Amino acid sequence: MKIKEKASTGYLKYELKNFEKLPVKIWEDSVEASRHVARSVALAIRQRQQDGEHIVLGLATGSTPIKVYEELVRLHKEEGLSFQNVISFNLDEYYPMPKEAQQSYWRFMHEYLFDHVDILPENIHIPDGTLPMEKIADYCEEYEKLIDLAGGIDIQLLGIGRTGHIGFNEPGAWETSPTRMVRLDHLTRHDASKDFQSGDDVPYRAITMGVGSIFKARTVYLMAWGQHKARIIQQAIEGEITTSVPASFLQKHPNVKVVLDKSAAEELTKMKSPWLAGICNWTDDLICKAVVWLSQKTGKPILKLTDEDYNEHGLSDLIIEQANSY
Ligand code: PGA
Repeated sequence: MKIKEKASTGYLKYELKNFEKLPVKIWEDSVEASRHVARSVALAIRQRQQDGEHIVLGLATGSTPIKVYEELVRLHKEEGLSFQNVISFNLDEYYPMPKEAQQSYWRFMHEYLFDHVDILPENIHIPDGTLPMEKIADYCEEYEKLIDLAGGIDIQLLGIGRTGHIGFNEPGAWETSPTRMVRLDHLTRHDASKDFQSGDDVPYRAITMGVGSIFKARTVYLMAWGQHKARIIQQAIEGEITTSVPASFLQKHPNVKVVLDKSAAEELTKMKSPWLAGICNWTDDLICKAVVWLSQKTGKPILKLTDEDYNEHGLSDLIIEQANSY
């Protein structure tokens, strides 16, 4: 009876276990995933327009949101999506950083989005990397106030750094942190060095909205593409909430949507060891993967694995399956 149910559905409904502490949607590739996010943002913009209201977007930079912006620009040019009711607040900016510099987020946002849509310039807010140090604290306080004055962020777009940062909130950032000046992690500077002439040119500091500022957004899209993000995504989504992985604080937010391509999802339990999550359509490849996993887990050669080993590690299903096939 059990086998029959499995054969028809591909998994055992009664054994499903969810390791993910945030809702996750996995797409075949980042193009599809980005279109999905852009369409959701466009829908929200249009709904507010119908009600004669503005919408506040929290925007991210880096390679992750580029295709989202490309799709939003296409929707503006080809499908009449207007940005006249959009107020935007960007997450962060390097410090110090002239606006027109090749690597500035001010320039990035204009190149990828603002120059191609009808957003009103006075509605654009990007942390200012040109201010003297002594003005930064007041400026950051003012940035928070402006977000509040606009009614708070409706939709926040986020990428994730390999350190687990959101915005530039690096490991050690506290849960209620506001917009402020921060020091960049070594790994973040290393990852950013491809955009600069040399690693030494990457600024040591940045201005960033805080974890607390991000947390106030009503809806958050956390996006990640590529295998190099798989490990940190697994920690942020399945791991404990910890300041070592600032993105894990999002587990406490009531409305986060994690959007991944297949490679970034690779380390999630349901993808890596689906038998632990109870989602098993036992193909030959998957059987091989499970047996090798069990052998590594128990430290025993494959031929020495006993029924007990299979049972104790959630693979009893596989024994039933194999017995049934003889
Ligand atoms: P990336 O960076 O989009 O360039 O991968 C994301 C981030 O650091 O937040």
